Amino acid sequence: MNDRAFAPPPVLDVRDVTVRFAGLTALDGVSFTVTPGTVHAVIGPNGAGKSTCFNVLSGLCRPDAGTVTLGDTELTRLAPHRIAALGVARTFQNIVTTHGTVADNLMLGRHALSRAGFAASALRLPRAVREQREHLDRARRIAELTGLGAHFDSPVALLSYGDRKRVELARALCLEPRVLLLDEPVAGMNAAERARTAAVVGELRAELGLSVVLVEHDMGLVMRLADDVTVLDFGRPIAHGTPDEVRQDPGVLRAYLGTDAPKEDAA
Ligand SMILES: Nc1ncnc2c1ncn2[C@@H]1O[C@H](COP(=O)(O)OP(=O)(O)O)[C@@H](O)[C@H]1O
Ligand SMILES: [Mg+2]
Repeated sequence: MNDRAFAPPPVLDVRDVTVRFAGLTALDGVSFTVTPGTVHAVIGPNGAGKSTCFNVLSGLCRPDAGTVTLGDTELTRLAPHRIAALGVARTFQNIVTTHGTVADNLMLGRHALSRAGFAASALRLPRAVREQREHLDRARRIAELTGLGAHFDSPVALLSYGDRKRVELARALCLEPRVLLLDEPVAGMNAAERARTAAVVGELRAELGLSVVLVEHDMGLVMRLADDVTVLDFGRPIAHGTPDEVRQDPGVLRAYLGTDAPKEDAA
């Protein structure tokens, strides 16, 4: 139904991005490249600029300098909905979903994907019905992929915290992204919930071939899932490399001292 999901994602390139708020440089010349089909983690102490970086990638924040490109397309000047339409979907650090069933929430994502299609097919009922059924099938498949298959018709409000947070992830996937931005996907979860979400993210990459940009405090999760890691400190990129490389980097250890040291959680 959507060929985009099966095309390899384009390269996401962040080049010399600087964001200033009054008197404070939240991002200072940040560059990194997300290789198609990999998990790229962005880590750093609180206030390092991770969420600001996501806001730039998703178009909520326009950088003062630098560019973000997806393949040949510059994202930096596009509105958030245009960036989403190009296949960049994000989850937020805080859960917003409390209404409706899992199916309702996922179908909202599908409608956002093809509103024009729904309108155009409104006059041709059989086709509209078929399209609706295809969207429902796809939403059910995404629920299964994210470990929510058994809860497809359950009200979100009745789900556990971990499952509710995964509804956010599933809803982003319903946009058929080529690049998925996850802002602290396991924040607040217990060890079992974290392990479950980690397994889901790993499977997404394998099954859908997505690029994933991951902001996460849980170092165990980052070390296990990430192919590449960019470390920010006070808005500056202080290290790039594989999880093992950055874990042993003296600058990284220094940045984390006195804040939340990069310890391996039992995720
Ligand atoms: N809209 C804003 N206005 C002013 N300062 C901001 C704004 N958003 C973030 N900041 C500041 O920018 C810095 C980076 O914040 P943030 O990107 O949220 O960090 P992180 O997600 O790594 O914890 C912090 O000092 C924060 O207070
Ligand atoms: Mg943040």
